[in-house]
Amino acid sequence: MSKKIVIGNWKMNPASLKEAEKLFTETVKMLSDVKKTEVVICSPFLYLEKLKKISKKISLGAQNIFWEEVGAYTGEVSGDMVYNIGAKYVILGHSERRNFFGGGENNEIVNKKIKSAIKSGLIPIICVGENVRDENHEYLNFVKKQIEECFNGISKNSISKIIIAYEPVWAIGKGAYPATPEEFREMNIFIRKILSDKFGLSNIEGVRIIYGGSVDEKNALDFIIEGKADGFLPGRASLNPKKFSKIVKICETLNK
Ligand code: PGA
Repeated sequence: MSKKIVIGNWKMNPASLKEAEKLFTETVKMLSDVKKTEVVICSPFLYLEKLKKISKKISLGAQNIFWEEVGAYTGEVSGDMVYNIGAKYVILGHSERRNFFGGGENNEIVNKKIKSAIKSGLIPIICVGENVRDENHEYLNFVKKQIEECFNGISKNSISKIIIAYEPVWAIGKGAYPATPEEFREMNIFIRKILSDKFGLSNIEGVRIIYGGSVDEKNALDFIIEGKADGFLPGRASLNPKKFSKIVKICETLNK
């Protein structure tokens, strides 16, 4: 069984490097006794280099990359650039990038980015999840399509390191409600079945399927016990070192 993993998605926060260093330092301090759980902070690109110098214990990740290595792509950042700065992970296909202000990334684009991330040596964290839950269970087909298209052409060898974050869009952000652990459990089994049909059971044993969407220190335990989550992708809670460290510590007590 793989180690549980908690990945903080800072999104477009905070507003200055000074605040980022403070937030990261406080988070590191609160997690000083954590040994068995993998902790990742995905900060804005700009802060990665400085944060890297503060702690080796917490891994760093980006929240996006472009699929080309170098060249005339104004405003873009490549996987090689992120890897060379010392980051290890990259979130890809987040719903906020799949919508209009994220450039309307579709599965085909996410697929290209996954391939590029793997080539650069980064571990991709792929977000999937439906916009709405309908009575006819169309949402299952929606998530299946996301997985099949995003992982099109990915080799059996590459799949074992990938992390999948099930983040139903309706559960993300201020005012939203998290999925129930049962709803996650159903998806967890469903996603594993799709992967196993595509890549073979033995190749997907190491794949971690984590939950994201209004995760906090109060609901994390149930997602692990009842939902069998391999970890979490908290957004808002990652901006609060106390809350974030409580989520990590819940994983820590349950990690073998
Ligand atoms: P949230 O965000 O925890 O603030 O709901 C999660 C995410 O979008 O990754």
